[in-house]
Amino acid sequence: MDEKRYLTFALAKGRLANKTLELLEEVGITCEEMKDKSSRKLIFVNEELKLKFFLSKGPDVPTYVEYGAADIGVVGKDTLLEEGKRVYEVLDLGFGKCRMCVCGPVKSRELLKHHAMIRVASKYPNIAKDYFYNKKHQTVDIIKLNGSVELGPIVGLSDVIVDIVETGSTLRENGLEVLEEVCPLSARMIVNQVSMQMQPERIKGLINQLKEKL
Ligand code: PRP
Repeated sequence: MDEKRYLTFALAKGRLANKTLELLEEVGITCEEMKDKSSRKLIFVNEELKLKFFLSKGPDVPTYVEYGAADIGVVGKDTLLEEGKRVYEVLDLGFGKCRMCVCGPVKSRELLKHHAMIRVASKYPNIAKDYFYNKKHQTVDIIKLNGSVELGPIVGLSDVIVDIVETGSTLRENGLEVLEEVCPLSARMIVNQVSMQMQPERIKGLINQLKEKL
């Protein structure tokens, strides 16, 4: 029974999806249709294995998985923390490693130390709120931005930012530095809660196969 139904994967467009497909290939799961980069198709099928794949914007992956439109998703831990959806996080895939940090000009270090009322710009307002309110017990003003967040302190919009740091070069090139680390990040596999109950053997089998390759 289990094997007849399609298992659907939602992957975050870009580097994470490519890395995920490489990993899936290692356990014998391929999707030839997806390799055609000129295709405008949104959903790809492997009939033999009864698998479907689709690519979406990262923040939408947990939404598809929560509602069961996808059984399985791969997305960054940053997105999972920010979106706060009800899904099972089953595996740290180990790639896409980076850190969520509070960053800013060195002069903002004092403001953080003295728990001053500061302005924090971030693409991740929920993560920023949780860090400052619940972990640091510091009242701050959080300003949501949609990208190029490093501009915040440079143009005087905010005192600090909460953002992803990977190599640190964006910070260095803009005269900013890491002031505090919020948490480490990497790509995670997530599973719909009902799918896990309905197809436990198939999904757990896949998780175990992937674990052996990590
Ligand atoms: C991310 C992040 C930083 C940068 C960090 O931005 O928000 O800006 O990468 O990487 P680094 O430490 O290696 O320099 P992204 O390129 O995703 O674009 P965005 O600023 O529009 O979010």
